[in-house]
Amino acid sequence: MRNFTNVHDLGDLQAALREAYEIKRDRFADTNIGRNKTLLMVFFNASLRTRLSTQKAAMNLGMNTIVLDVNQGAWKLETERGVVMDGDKSEHLLEAIPVMGCYCDIIGVRSFARFESKEEDYTEKTLNQFIRYSGRPVFSMEAATRHPLQSFADLITIEEYRTTPRPKVVMTWAPHPKALPQAVPNSFAEWMNAAGYDFVITHPEGYELDPAFVGPARVEYDREKAFEGADFVYAKNWAAYAGPDYGKVLHADRRWTVDARTMALTNNAYFMHCLPVRRNMIVTDDVIEGPRSLVIPEAANREISAQTVLRRLLLSEA
Ligand code: CP
Repeated sequence: MRNFTNVHDLGDLQAALREAYEIKRDRFADTNIGRNKTLLMVFFNASLRTRLSTQKAAMNLGMNTIVLDVNQGAWKLETERGVVMDGDKSEHLLEAIPVMGCYCDIIGVRSFARFESKEEDYTEKTLNQFIRYSGRPVFSMEAATRHPLQSFADLITIEEYRTTPRPKVVMTWAPHPKALPQAVPNSFAEWMNAAGYDFVITHPEGYELDPAFVGPARVEYDREKAFEGADFVYAKNWAAYAGPDYGKVLHADRRWTVDARTMALTNNAYFMHCLPVRRNMIVTDDVIEGPRSLVIPEAANREISAQTVLRRLLLSEA
């Protein structure tokens, strides 16, 4: 595996899950394969879980890590080619990326959708520039359209808690005051479809996702109907995708907050969210604190998904 940006990069998903559980059983079994190797983690956006879990995973493999917060302490970067750089941006990404590649063996990149251009976001311009110009294996730590390390951790978690071979997994839109990218819901849909679960997406009209990510999932606009019989409820907000409303908050209808009443419609479902979460917007206190909430195990499994991916990248380069 040269790069990791989506579920297909892992190949056989069941084999990847087996590797993940091996790592979880003994996360210090491979402390030598990253010896004298350096991971550079480049953040264009804030993070708590991705930063800590990926750094911990790299340390478990014996790697050294460098973290670069592009917007704090680095030169302000120009991303457009052909621009006369007479403004506040001192360095071009096209020099910065190969320079970063000089100091490391693997690069992780976090670069969210900017909602300035759907075309720019959905062609993953920044992530692909790292793949093209760094000369290093690159993995996504959440890009404009996908968050594969999160989705892999979500899948590991569902596999640990499911009690039927093909659980019903419902991803529900939930309200949020700010415009959030579609990366987590796109990616979750991609991974749930790849896992072959009974997967349903529910959201208000206007919040339709890119059909390429929805794939064979069922879309149900009636949230109560969608929740019936669910084994897992995955809540997430996202901004509008379709047409001229791309990147907009159409409304933040609090009737879509996940609460005890709606969870009671399910098959005693587990509650999931990638975090950070806005309580009593996305989900009520009692549900997130309740015995069926998996938000902490999901976050813990971020270390396992990151270690599985880093291990594969290291072994491919060896
Ligand atoms: N879920 C997730 O990616 O968390 P952070 O944004 O804190 O990294």
